[in-house]
Amino acid sequence: MAEFKTVRGMRDFLPEEARLLRYVEGRAREVARLYGYREIVTPIVESYELLSAKAGEEVKSRMFLFNDLGGRDVALRPEFTASVARLVATTLRNEPRPFRLFSVGSIYRYDEPQRGRYREFWQSNYELMGSSRPEADAEILLLTNSFMQTAGLKKFAFKVGHIGVLRGILTQEKLVDKVQSAVMQLMDKKQYEDAFRLVKSAGVSETCILTLRKLVELKGNNVLDVADRVAELVRDYEKSVEASRNLGEILDLVLKSRCYVDMMVDAGFARGLEYYTGMIFEVYVPGLDIALGGGGRYDRLIELFGGDPTPAVGVAHGVDRIMLALQEQKAAQKAEEEAEEEEKTVLIVPINEGLRGQALQVSEVLRNAGVVVEVEVMGRKMVKALEDADRRKMSYAVIIGERELKKGAVVVRDLAKRVQSTVKIEDVADVVKG
Ligand code: HAM
Repeated sequence: MAEFKTVRGMRDFLPEEARLLRYVEGRAREVARLYGYREIVTPIVESYELLSAKAGEEVKSRMFLFNDLGGRDVALRPEFTASVARLVATTLRNEPRPFRLFSVGSIYRYDEPQRGRYREFWQSNYELMGSSRPEADAEILLLTNSFMQTAGLKKFAFKVGHIGVLRGILTQEKLVDKVQSAVMQLMDKKQYEDAFRLVKSAGVSETCILTLRKLVELKGNNVLDVADRVAELVRDYEKSVEASRNLGEILDLVLKSRCYVDMMVDAGFARGLEYYTGMIFEVYVPGLDIALGGGGRYDRLIELFGGDPTPAVGVAHGVDRIMLALQEQKAAQKAEEEAEEEEKTVLIVPINEGLRGQALQVSEVLRNAGVVVEVEVMGRKMVKALEDADRRKMSYAVIIGERELKKGAVVVRDLAKRVQSTVKIEDVADVVKG
């Protein structure tokens, strides 16, 4: 039989990597707790109709789509947002606003595999439902900043924009939604000339093309100033002026929070997902030109799914990419050390076959006291078993012998110090926990 491999784009996580994954996930959970986001668990498989409704062509064309045995068109989730919006439109319809929801788990996209781009990856996702106010947008930016920091990243920066600026221009120029979305897709991929050509072919004014050209050039770290310059540049387009003012207000609140957030505004910035209506952003680290997280405001998705009009803003963080950036920034070591929690580990070895049952019994006593215990299951001689425990950097061996058992005791050997003593079974947990 051929040697089995993982399917292209899929990975195994060996213990070291799995630990780092769970560590980052743990930080995400802690941020959720501190900001009041309650966790929900939604299915990995959802109806294709739901997932494709406003995902945008790019995500739509990359879904793991199939027919289930009942003939339904279903797909593996390419994001959490659609599932959360479905819940808010249905089961959580009457939940008092605002409310905050958190999810973490695996996501599936048929992307071309490369460094930091996989077909199965993990997101931590936060959605704030029911507020259209700029402080809600600011919260999502601050929460992301806080998460990247507590995960251990030393350097990262936000790219922020507002989809309302571009949409405002294109709507006033009477471009239909479908063409607008196609333009956004091209701008998301930085294919600006193609985007301008498409806009031109829709018969827009000269001012429009000129404004768009100037917009994509407009970016900078002095965020309030850039937001003002955007407002000035789009002065002929009422909705776009409103959008740039909204962006300015959000950024002003972030600055007033006194948290250090490294931000730049990019006026020509668009994102591939179609549901955005307001502020949008992505997070980057130096040396990796893939986003570590992305999000924004989407005020119309929930009503599109049949729910009450519910303004919403959210973000998803790419857990795998954060792991990669941590490894790059050599911060992984600290993260891993923290993840390990310096646990003491014990190997229990019976000195003969007749004591295997007692070995299991002592192991249960210790585990009930919270000690990490492995029992020798290879039938090895004492010396071999101890050598192996040493190699694996275990802390103690507990040796089960007849003589000690008669007194309700065992031999506890400190593997690092190479000393041993006889200890009553009820005291072993205290001894090994130090
Ligand atoms: P997104 O920008 O499509 O947004 O994905 C969020 C993050 O997922 C990306 O920034 C990246 O870190 C990670 N990611 C995306 N594709 C891959 C991949 N192929 N391999 C590894 N990581 C990847 C969303 O998904 C929106 N639902 C975010 C959102 C929530 N907006 C509002 N609420």
